[in-house]
Amino acid sequence: MNQLASQRRPWAKDELKTFFRKKKVLITVGPTREYLDPVRFISNGSSGKVGLAIAKMFRSLGAKVFLVCGPGVSPPLNIKAFSVVSAREMLQRSEKIFFRSDFFVACAAVSDYRPGKISSKKIHKEAQSFHLHLVRNPDILACLAGKKTKQFCVGFALEDSDGMKNAIRKLKQKNCDLMVLNSVDSMESDFINAAIIFSTGRVWKLGKISKNKFAEKLCRAIVQSILKSA
Ligand code: CTP
Repeated sequence: MNQLASQRRPWAKDELKTFFRKKKVLITVGPTREYLDPVRFISNGSSGKVGLAIAKMFRSLGAKVFLVCGPGVSPPLNIKAFSVVSAREMLQRSEKIFFRSDFFVACAAVSDYRPGKISSKKIHKEAQSFHLHLVRNPDILACLAGKKTKQFCVGFALEDSDGMKNAIRKLKQKNCDLMVLNSVDSMESDFINAAIIFSTGRVWKLGKISKNKFAEKLCRAIVQSILKSA
């Protein structure tokens, strides 16, 4: 077996533990909420299941995990977690952890837009139509990965058409080291239909697997990518 082939072998869990032990991992998880008045918001559908599965996997490998969670996500008690509501809060909290981290996994379904104006009082219905002016939110992954020093950055591309093309574009545009292409039918499910795209262009198609199994494969892909065997 040549060296490259031997590096591509499946890593035993103990070897993964040696690799990730005491490494710091930042994970954004769940949706964000963008309020327009005290009772209404726009958001994305997201259960946070894949992010939590990844967090538990890193934890089981001995890494120090920091979760930045959107609303509705219940993090495990043994993982350090920060709750946030909006995309801007998620960026602010993540930024504080990012520069001390070795890995950043951006799983959150961040709302790309927020209302331009927030009403401090509940908006009552009056006219027959209502125009909502939205402004762009910061892109947390692009923003942080754009400033990376040593951090290995993983993004997710949720796509319903032209998936591979869009995922490769996002990998480059957001300065990531790995991009996970997943499909909309993975939302809220215990399964994910995913492919991992390496910065070398290699694609690892995983098909439909449980989110726990996916989390383990993602850790293996990270090791392969860092050891340049992908
Ligand atoms: N992401 C982020 N901040 C945003 C938007 C996205 O950190 N404001 C991250 C997501 O966590 C994910 C990746 O960027 O890791 C891609 O998210 P996705 O929703 O697939 O794509 P977008 O960049 O939002 O682009 P579009 O909605 O046009 O597909």
